[in-house]
Amino acid sequence: MVTFYYYFSNHSVLLVLCYEDKQMGNITETGIRKAVPFQKLLIKGLANHNVFNDCFTVADLGCSSGKNTLLVASNIIDIVHEVCQENDRKVPQFQVCLNDLFGNDFNNIFKLLPDFYAKLKKDKGEGFGPCFVSAVPGSFYGRLFPNQSLHFVNSANCNHWLSQVPRGLESNGSNICMARASPPNVYQAYQNQFHDDFTKFLQMRSEEVVHGGSMILTFFVREVADPTIADSFAQLELLGQSLVDMIKEVYIVVSYPNLNSNILLTSFNYSVWHY
Ligand SMILES: C[S@@+](CC[C@H](N)C(=O)[O-])C[C@H]1O[C@@H](n2cnc3c(N)ncnc32)[C@H](O)[C@@H]1O
Repeated sequence: MVTFYYYFSNHSVLLVLCYEDKQMGNITETGIRKAVPFQKLLIKGLANHNVFNDCFTVADLGCSSGKNTLLVASNIIDIVHEVCQENDRKVPQFQVCLNDLFGNDFNNIFKLLPDFYAKLKKDKGEGFGPCFVSAVPGSFYGRLFPNQSLHFVNSANCNHWLSQVPRGLESNGSNICMARASPPNVYQAYQNQFHDDFTKFLQMRSEEVVHGGSMILTFFVREVADPTIADSFAQLELLGQSLVDMIKEVYIVVSYPNLNSNILLTSFNYSVWHY
């Protein structure tokens, strides 16, 4: 695991890069767990500099709709609670904003909220909070929140999703992403798209986070920097090969007269950039 800490325009940004360990099992949950000590470090800084007072506003960007969604919120609330008790501070109210794309199943998260609120009350006592959870649908490559309204931003395992498939991938043949067999311009196109998207992401958040606020981003990365090394893209290459086989089979079995299987094979690319 590697961490990078940046400080610019009055905001702290911590990047946590986790190498993908094949023994890890649920890798996103592992990433969330590994981020906890770093979240604590940043939240201590916020408390020490009085960045928040009566209400702590946190956003989880790319929250998804599974069991990890409220785990992140719960970890952050626990840390703020602990840090305030250690510093003899009044525990604030919490506003937890859960963001994902418009198509995310936010209803699934809402159904988990009664148990989530009940557990907070049971663990922390009647006087705790209160905590208000809301959904903020939309792309994190655009604005999501009013100016200077967030104290803390968390995003785990999301920034490798690009805003669109990069342009200029015609030479990528039947590969569905960057692959060992991809020509250099394909790597460059993915890298440029990531650069543009990530710049946009940081610009948007720099407007939304209060002065002195913090952001923590967790990424899973390749262990080898050279993308042409075997194993770098093993899973995506296997997926690409399976798609090629499926398309060939459908084409042979159904034989649509107007369907050119070569165009199908070469026109699909995945909008993911792998570090
Ligand atoms: C691998 S999941 C990670 C979910 C969760 N953060 C975790 O660590 O378990 C990536 C999530 O990012 C969301 N996502 C991708 N692009 C997004 C965008 N532009 N804006 C908001 N969410 C996005 C996806 O919908 C998906 O739920």
